[in-house]
Amino acid sequence: MTETSLRERLLVATLPAEERENGRRLLQALACVEDKLKLVERELETRTRSKTPTIGLIGEYLVDGGGKRIRPALLLLSAQILGYTGDRDVRYGAVIELIHTATLVHDDIIDAADIRRGRESVNHRWGNELTVLFGDYLYMKSMEIALDEGDLRVLRVLSDVTLEMTEGEIIGSEIRGSLDISLERYLDIVRRKTALLFGAACRIPTFLPGVETSGDTLWRYGLALGTAFQLQDDLLDYTASEKDLGKPVLSDLREGKLTLPLILVLPDLSRAERKLVDTVLRERSFTSVSPDQILEIVAHHTALERAREMLEGYASEARALALSLPECPARDGLVLAAEYAAHRRK
Ligand code: IPE
Ligand code: IPE
Ligand code: MG
Ligand code: MG
Repeated sequence: MTETSLRERLLVATLPAEERENGRRLLQALACVEDKLKLVERELETRTRSKTPTIGLIGEYLVDGGGKRIRPALLLLSAQILGYTGDRDVRYGAVIELIHTATLVHDDIIDAADIRRGRESVNHRWGNELTVLFGDYLYMKSMEIALDEGDLRVLRVLSDVTLEMTEGEIIGSEIRGSLDISLERYLDIVRRKTALLFGAACRIPTFLPGVETSGDTLWRYGLALGTAFQLQDDLLDYTASEKDLGKPVLSDLREGKLTLPLILVLPDLSRAERKLVDTVLRERSFTSVSPDQILEIVAHHTALERAREMLEGYASEARALALSLPECPARDGLVLAAEYAAHRRK
């Protein structure tokens, strides 16, 4: 499948009917970075080759696996908005995608996930031991590429963000199985594990040669967009189909993770309802409680509607920040990415 039709499948085909026009417009807006996205793909392919056959094999499996490449796309759009015309953004796009991939393969070990991007996860196929090591390899590979670029300011951003992402996963793992998670703590985890990398993707181009801007708007845009993106991920866990999503649904509770919809309605739950949720979190399975019982609680308290309202708030913030940037096709890409983050079904 060509890269364009793959992206079309990912960005348009899975959107709800009323959002497809926006998806098509996003695809059109991405045309201005299409050539560079292809170069990012080449960079990912060559950088995951190795004389160690297993690394090459897993690397190829992952690069072929059809991620949306939303983070490199954001980085390239931001660079274009800033008027950058060199080719360093391609390498940084690969850096960001490699960090993202490293966190995903580690995340799937932690969550004991069998399926990712519609097929066997790396941990399921190669086992945890190799997958931990491969994740480490990807982190260091990304740092190696960034080191070659020789800009300590970018390396500082990358190491700060990666440390906070790891802290986010550690905090998430410590509270796993617990029912009492405040909204504040939940949002802190979202910021760390997802939003900061989006922020970094949008901000890194401000360090490119010849670009002179503080990058504050792009940074805040990335954080708001990344938050909306993760909140939609958490909503999709309740509403999507495994076929669309490429990973199992209703898996957060089964993994012991309480996410936004239930966190928002927690104070309104009856004692009996709390007990049902608590049981799933503790058993890490739908053994004594059925998925339908949980979905009934969610529906009864309009938890999804309330979560969506909050998500839309972050998406609107991202949209408004994007609109404050100089008008150009790449700027439209950022505006439409905010639409996409809030409505994507994959
Ligand atoms: C998945 O990210 C992890 C989250 C932050 C929710 P993506 O949805 O960008 O994953 P791929 O790369 O497209 O598979
Ligand atoms: C996001 O959390 C994962 C990272 C940013 C590492 P999730 O656990 O919700 O991601 P998925 O659902 O497995 O893709
Ligand atoms: Mg996970
Ligand atoms: Mg998830």
